Amino acid sequence: VMIISDTNVFPLYGEKVCSSLQRAGKTVETVVIKAGESSKTLQQTYRIIKDSSSFKMERQDTILTLGGGVVSDIGGFVASVYLRGINFVAVPTTLLSHVDAAIGGKTAVNLPWGKNLVGSFYQPGFVYIDTGTLATLPDKEIKQGIAEIIKYGVIKNKKIFEVLEKSSLQETKRNLRWLVEESIKIKKQVVEKDERETKGIRETLNFGHTIGHAIEIKYNKKFNHGQAVAIGMVWESLIGTKLGITPVNVYKRIKSVVKKYGFALDINKTDKSLLMDAITYDKKTRNGAIRCSLPERIGKTVCGIEVTAHAVQKTWEEFRHESGDK
Ligand SMILES: NC(=O)c1ccc[n+]([C@@H]2O[C@H](COP(=O)([O-])OP(=O)(O)OC[C@H]3O[C@@H](n4cnc5c(N)ncnc54)[C@H](O)[C@@H]3O)[C@@H](O)[C@H]2O)c1
Ligand SMILES: [Zn+2]
Repeated sequence: VMIISDTNVFPLYGEKVCSSLQRAGKTVETVVIKAGESSKTLQQTYRIIKDSSSFKMERQDTILTLGGGVVSDIGGFVASVYLRGINFVAVPTTLLSHVDAAIGGKTAVNLPWGKNLVGSFYQPGFVYIDTGTLATLPDKEIKQGIAEIIKYGVIKNKKIFEVLEKSSLQETKRNLRWLVEESIKIKKQVVEKDERETKGIRETLNFGHTIGHAIEIKYNKKFNHGQAVAIGMVWESLIGTKLGITPVNVYKRIKSVVKKYGFALDINKTDKSLLMDAITYDKKTRNGAIRCSLPERIGKTVCGIEVTAHAVQKTWEEFRHESGDK
């Protein structure tokens, strides 16, 4: 078994996983990459493949990723191409990877001009989740996962949403195991129906992500993924109200949950025309319109709604105004 981990996670959990595998009679090798998104490159992929060769990894051997989405994305990618594919097991350690990155079989690395541009669909043999690992995860990273859990509530599970609505942040943190289980069930159901994203079903998972991605790209460092998706969920719901798809009270509930978990909706300094460009150049663009999944009620979205750049622009002032009223 070759463990791929990062410089933050390996010192915390590496020894435990190594000794557990050794007790089970496995020979263990380890590759530790620098923590962070900057490691998700083809150069790093090449280094890991080189290590796999020098450890004489064969097709019946296993790559085990121990870490967040960065580690499972690059490790899963190596597992899918090394020797045309070897066994892959994911042991995710961030809330985001528990509910999202390690589930669904997408692997990828970045190119200098864009995120996740090289990758594969490659399912792990299994995913082993221990929510105990969240005890060491910084709050900022917990919040990234919470943004995705809010999304799952809105798109498929009213109960998740109501629990998030009623609970304080501290209560939510104590309830993470249940939230993780329910979130995974949703992602699993959706992915099983549309594994390779060819049927439009997987699009429901994009709620908040069409505008979210644009914000993330435009504001590389200012907004992390969770923060950008939080803004995206509120803004897309506002657009939904204009199209007569999202009832106003649904929009208001989404906005208030997002605010309650401490996501700032402040995009005051955003340059309007650049953001519009970023939105329309997003990969979900078709025929100049962006495709959104918009909530019809809490627990159900309508997929593939084409929203014109003009319609997004029209909500710009209102979004800024509305999000400012704390
Ligand atoms: N494949 C997919 O379907 C999919 C879905 C969503 C996101 N992603 C990808 O996932 C990545 C983001 O994942 P992420 O948010 O897990 O980021 P990450 O892997 O960078 O982890 C975030 C930070 O937390 C640290 N960390 C991880 N576990 C820890 C723990 N238990 N205790 C203390 N520190 C810990 C990491 O070292 C890192 O510094 C992005 O590259 C994104 O593209 C992939
Ligand atoms: Zn996301």
